[in-house]
Amino acid sequence: MYRDAPHPTRLEDYRPPEFLIDQVDLHFDLDLDLTRVAAELTIRRNPAATRGDGSLTLQGEQLALDQVAIDGHLLTPAEYRVDTESLTVLRVPDRFRLLTRVHIHPARNTALEGLYQSGEMLCTQCEAEGFRRITYFLDRPDVMARYTVTIDANRVRFPVLLSNGNPLEARDLEGGRHRVRWEDPFPKPSYLFALIAGELGVVEETFTTASGRSVGLRIYVEPQNLDKCDHAMRSLKKAMRWDEERYGREYDLDLFMIVAVSHFNMGAMENKGLNVFNDKFVLARPETATDQDFLGVEGVIAHEYFHNWTGNRITCRDWFQLSLKEGFTVFRDQEFSADMGSRGVTRISDVRTLRAAQFAEDGGPMAHPVRPTSYIEINNFYTSTVYEKGAEVVRMQATLLGPEVFRRATDLYFERHDGQAVTTDDFVTCMEDASGRDLTQFRRWYAQAGTPQLRVKGEYAAADGSYTLTVRQHTPATPGQPQKGPLHLPLAVGLLGRDGEALPLRLDGEDEAVATRGTRILEVRAALERFRFVGLQERPVPSLLRGFSAPVKLQCDFTDDDLQFLMAHDTDGFARWDAAQSLMQRILLGLVASPRKSVPTAFFAAFRDTLLDARGEPALRAEVLTLPGESYLADQMAVVDVDGIHRAGESLRRRIGEELAADLLSVYTAQAESGPYAFTPAAIGRRALKNLTLSYLMAADAPNAVTLCRDQFAAAHNMTDVMAALRLLVDHGGAAGEEALAAFYDRWSAQPLVIDKWFSIQATSSRADVLERVVGLMTHADFSMRNPNRVRSLIGAFCTANPVRFHAADGAGYRFLADRILELDPLNPQIASRLLKSMSRWRRYDPARQALMRAEIARILAVDALSKDVYEVAAKTLED
Ligand code: TRP
Ligand code: ZN
Repeated sequence: MYRDAPHPTRLEDYRPPEFLIDQVDLHFDLDLDLTRVAAELTIRRNPAATRGDGSLTLQGEQLALDQVAIDGHLLTPAEYRVDTESLTVLRVPDRFRLLTRVHIHPARNTALEGLYQSGEMLCTQCEAEGFRRITYFLDRPDVMARYTVTIDANRVRFPVLLSNGNPLEARDLEGGRHRVRWEDPFPKPSYLFALIAGELGVVEETFTTASGRSVGLRIYVEPQNLDKCDHAMRSLKKAMRWDEERYGREYDLDLFMIVAVSHFNMGAMENKGLNVFNDKFVLARPETATDQDFLGVEGVIAHEYFHNWTGNRITCRDWFQLSLKEGFTVFRDQEFSADMGSRGVTRISDVRTLRAAQFAEDGGPMAHPVRPTSYIEINNFYTSTVYEKGAEVVRMQATLLGPEVFRRATDLYFERHDGQAVTTDDFVTCMEDASGRDLTQFRRWYAQAGTPQLRVKGEYAAADGSYTLTVRQHTPATPGQPQKGPLHLPLAVGLLGRDGEALPLRLDGEDEAVATRGTRILEVRAALERFRFVGLQERPVPSLLRGFSAPVKLQCDFTDDDLQFLMAHDTDGFARWDAAQSLMQRILLGLVASPRKSVPTAFFAAFRDTLLDARGEPALRAEVLTLPGESYLADQMAVVDVDGIHRAGESLRRRIGEELAADLLSVYTAQAESGPYAFTPAAIGRRALKNLTLSYLMAADAPNAVTLCRDQFAAAHNMTDVMAALRLLVDHGGAAGEEALAAFYDRWSAQPLVIDKWFSIQATSSRADVLERVVGLMTHADFSMRNPNRVRSLIGAFCTANPVRFHAADGAGYRFLADRILELDPLNPQIASRLLKSMSRWRRYDPARQALMRAEIARILAVDALSKDVYEVAAKTLED
């Protein structure tokens, strides 16, 4: 058992820092095995804080302290205390220069937090609390300082030396070393510090800002990857332009750098002027990356770039405010992607992620508000609630204010808080001040966990031509929050007439002249609301929650006919997709309950109409025709029937394939790729639709399907088509699958990101022997527990993207996962803890599986010296 349970940090305990740091001068003597760090800090008492006992405590972990001096005087050991987490200088003046010298061991750092080795390079990751593994510091985001950084290193091993801001000087030193100095003129919190050293190639372009300044853009990669940076560079320029146009935000330094590294815990990091990326979100060529990868690069490049204003210029007061930067920045990158590609399709894929990941989190033992109130390990709170639900909360404010007022509100936010560390409350206050609206009730979205349920009923009264929507909301209890209050939310609705035309949206008491058609935002506040529309000659079909205007679960007593009608006629792409999802969910859950149940012919007809709707956007048609995912369906059941859900999916896919074989084939053929790869919404949509039809043909074992897959696999020049075919061949099994896997490996063995795909395709196959295969692949020469992308592509993929095999009734999947977590925890707690979350919803399964999962989590919790990361998730998962 964990002997002293680690203490939580609580929002209510927040106090301003007792000291401030104005200037930081760092000196690095770099090497893989041993790096020396000297830090000179200009410190003063914070006039806004209460006085303590006259001492100063700095955070520091895994540091070997060599020296401490104040204003040039060396301190004796009696004048300070050091423990495993901090350095306390017992007496300090009101203003002083503190010098510390420490040494660290980057090559031994497997946690990838602080300064660590990735391949032949050295890099840093400081968010959230990694800076304290580099030097002693007030490592909290409300301490903002100016930095200069001097880096000395071997000239041959580390020709490129980077840090934040602008380069000051570069010169050779004795003994084969050289020195580069950097200065960042903008005060920043320590989590935005970065340093990179290595032998890197660079792609360089310039960008002229709206006001006419020229900014150097540089993407640094390992030399063999220089041919895979075009898309990232194009994406960066688009993002910079978009932020100027949509938010009036210009870049502020002369240089913007991106570095791609291959060992990285998350997606990317927005360090000031020096973004560091998981190489998966930089490197892309049509032959090596899928359309989804291309979209991922574009979105993440934009996300990190946008942080320059939402995160860096204005940062978080404390880590409970994480969504201040992450929620807003995700909202910004989502809108950017919507503008660059297809708005409807972007929204659908964002909602799909939200429903699959965030709704599940909100309904489980780790549920927490967008602004949490306590944590043991902050790294556990980089969650889809903070990111994706946080983005929805910003989106709702944008919807309630409307585009012009929202823009005025963000202008106010940037003006009022530039250079500050602030709270989500400060953000909402700007929304209020710019709009004159009262968002007191709306603030509950930040404080209350759980997914609200909205039950909507529509009643038409032919006698007076009125149509009344009754809206009830209820948020279920979550751990630590038994009672919930009603939320203020925008409900976007439209009313459709018999032929799909938009009907007037006139509420009782309103002037006929102001009646809008199309979409109207209703504001829901109370637990029960009624909206009475008048002037309707016929019973309308309501289109509800258009564009997914609020992150809620909507229940409405639609008939199958209503859903088919919306699927065919709704002008809102999201609503059309959502109607199709509801319809397919009904059919699938029906099949789970009784596998032999027949599927209504009307469904096939509706499916066929969309499939053949030549006027419709191919990407949207592909989304509409994709079955809901297994984990989403699992969420809809009181007790998850893993096998039943999987069988139902296979069965419905087969029936669709059989019923519509000829149409599927004709669509497949019509979308055949011609000409070079294009990253355009239309081309992406065509490939998506084509590969979807192929999957249905394969599900039905159509006569030529395997040949089609084989041909596509062999002939395709883009990874999207290759992967789609390979996945189908592997799932199909037999020699065709094995041959394709072998050919794929041979062709791409020198490209790690492609080999990740090779691992994950095997880990997510629905073949019965997949766990054996995964276990075997762990001994493959290319597998490593030290590379997070590899761990995710094999272990993560199996445990999160292969529910039917991971949840095998004998518990072998659970045992496998627990073993891997225990193996990983001493190496990389962040990755270990993330994997553990895939068992956190154990209570949703049948008693036998519950017992098996519970036992594995208990086995983990019983281990001595667990990381805080894994301890917190394991303990909260078992709490009742
Ligand atoms: N702030 C980063 C982002 O939003 C994410 C991040 C947080 C991160 N902690 C990290 C990235 C640790 C890498 C490692 O994009
Ligand atoms: Zn972010």
